[in-house]
Amino acid sequence: MRFKFRLPLLEVQSLISGYGKMAIIQGVSLTIEPGDFVALVGPNGSGKSTLIKSIVGLTNIFEGKVSFQGADITSKKPEYVASLKLGYVPQISNVFTDLTVRENLEMGGTIIKNSSQRKKLMDQVVGLFPILASREHQKAGYLSGGERQMLAVGRALMAEPKLLILDEPAAALAPKMADQLFEKLSEIRTQLGVTIMLVEQNARRALSLSNRGIVLIQGKKAFEGTPEQILKDTELIRLFLGELTV
Ligand SMILES: Nc1ncnc2c1ncn2[C@@H]1O[C@H](COP(=O)(O)OP(=O)(O)OP(=O)(O)O)[C@@H](O)[C@H]1O
Ligand SMILES: [Mg+2]
Repeated sequence: MRFKFRLPLLEVQSLISGYGKMAIIQGVSLTIEPGDFVALVGPNGSGKSTLIKSIVGLTNIFEGKVSFQGADITSKKPEYVASLKLGYVPQISNVFTDLTVRENLEMGGTIIKNSSQRKKLMDQVVGLFPILASREHQKAGYLSGGERQMLAVGRALMAEPKLLILDEPAAALAPKMADQLFEKLSEIRTQLGVTIMLVEQNARRALSLSNRGIVLIQGKKAFEGTPEQILKDTELIRLFLGELTV
């Protein structure tokens, strides 16, 4: 009898990566399964952004391997990684401020060659974020912080990602705005079927949305488990989450 193995959507194996010759990520392994909502949490400077930048091709990889849907994407160019339908919303500079809202969305969809499919995606994005339709002709630089983050997420969705990785999309947003954005992320997962990996400072909030949490400390995976396991482990919170808001 042959066994069928379901491939994880994303697999990171023993990754050592960083900038120049400096290793920041020190041997991290993780997998993301289709349908997951994974929260990546940890103190400032623990390497969360560096880890996800390594996945999407924006750092130097010294050792280890990154695979997406079975394809080796280790050290591949960001454009190539994006073309495989791995979406990434960076922590900063995630929209083109001199372009209009519509132009930003259109740029996000350039990898979709079929124009009726692009239109369908545009309808889906403005259905999810109606504010983007009403601001269509406005320069992205004039949007409020919350609107800008919605545009950044909408722009990434225009490429029809299977996995969407977001780096602190709610940083600098008022709590109410942040809640609205996170509600949308849950909808994106449940209604559009997009798998999500979210980096977020507020561990409790991120874990409340996710089915699995990964705690990163000083470039290493310190703990991985269900949100309940992480949040009820007061020792873990004390030792590992440190100054994090939990
Ligand atoms: N472009 C860069 N060149 C050199 N070092 C960098 C660069 N970006 C980040 N670092 C260093 O890598 C380490 C990890 O930073 P990183 O931004 O990955 O942390 P983080 O967990 O995302 O932090 P935060 O919660 O503040 O966003 C830090 O020591 C930082 O100074
Ligand atoms: Mg960061």
